[in-house]
Amino acid sequence: MRPFGVYVHVPFCAHRCDYCAFATYDDRDELRDDYVSAVLSEIAGEVATGLEPASSVFFGGGTPSRLTPEQLVDILAAIPRTADAEVTVECNPEDATLERLRAYRAGGVTRMSYGVQSTQPAVLRDLGRRHGTMAHETVSRLTHEAGFATWNMDLIVGSRAETLEDVRATLRDLLELEFAPPHISCYALTPEPATPLGRDPRRHPDEDATADAYDLVGATLEAHGYEWEEISNWARPGHECRHNHVYWDHGDYVGFGSAAHSHRSGRRYWNVRTPERYIALVQRGERPVGGEEVLDQATQAFERDSLALRTRRGVPVEAFASLDEIRHLVDVREDRVTLTPQARLVANQVIIRLKSAP
Ligand SMILES: C[S@@+](CC[C@H](N)C(=O)[O-])C[C@H]1O[C@@H](n2cnc3c(N)ncnc32)[C@H](O)[C@@H]1O
Ligand code: SF4
Repeated sequence: MRPFGVYVHVPFCAHRCDYCAFATYDDRDELRDDYVSAVLSEIAGEVATGLEPASSVFFGGGTPSRLTPEQLVDILAAIPRTADAEVTVECNPEDATLERLRAYRAGGVTRMSYGVQSTQPAVLRDLGRRHGTMAHETVSRLTHEAGFATWNMDLIVGSRAETLEDVRATLRDLLELEFAPPHISCYALTPEPATPLGRDPRRHPDEDATADAYDLVGATLEAHGYEWEEISNWARPGHECRHNHVYWDHGDYVGFGSAAHSHRSGRRYWNVRTPERYIALVQRGERPVGGEEVLDQATQAFERDSLALRTRRGVPVEAFASLDEIRHLVDVREDRVTLTPQARLVANQVIIRLKSAP
């Protein structure tokens, strides 16, 4: 059966990190009950018109662990799923308790993802994170104890407070764990314009230092049995995130909740951004859609190629008219083109050379 993903957005955070531009709020917790009811109504509307069973479900945010475990599990129960569906929940490290994780597990969650970012105090402070330097150890132990067979940790590289030694120490801390995360995402810090960090050029990452940090992460993980999956993702064999693959394969998925995006056979649409507007529309019995676009064949081909080029799968050589100007950025094996490790952070220089590029 063709993979089909469901995404559920949870737009609440205890505190807004000053680099983050996601559609999330730290001053609207009182909306949570109405929000959950609205998400349940939105799902019920889709189920009534024949929502196909999801092979993966992803609760993202924001901070899904700002909902009670009962609320999250109620939403999950409303989503039709295949028997072996992967169900991921993003969780802030400081919210991880054995009780919460057991409730998720009992409710059908199969995979956890924690925003650990770093284990080094100066870096956590610079990023404005609230968890302590032992969070990686706590979440690893609790996740194992609660019985999860697979899970992820997010890292960020590029903070101005971070040295290459900090990156090395973070990797050592993760890899030395008794139960090391079998999947690791590592993002290069992006100075989003509408954030406090984005507005302060002194805090913008140094590109060379970020590239060195990213190279160290890739080389270290690949030397420890992790396979490179996509620009920012590495997994031990068998621990790939199926939901990510739906996105990277330009597959079909439906998003529920404010700001959630959907893609079905070349039609893309997205819900209104704020939880207030979202709740109001759903309560009035209207669809909470904020916009949509239909992708023509050429755009679909370009999106498919550029997503594939960012992954281990790469694209067929025929996807390029010529490799002459990008030969130093790509590997060619069995007629497929993939990015070299050094080209991963400058993937756009290769993507613009695709035949399908507009
Ligand atoms: C939307 S957050 C949800 C996870 C959870 N709220 C947390 O922070 O622990 C997912 C991940 O996005 C990454 N992220 C958010 N803003 C970013 C930025 N400006 N640059 C790089 N990574 C970012 C962080 O690594 C974070 O763990
Ligand atoms: S990084 Fe996570 S906790 Fe921080 S504001 Fe963004 S979603 Fe919230």
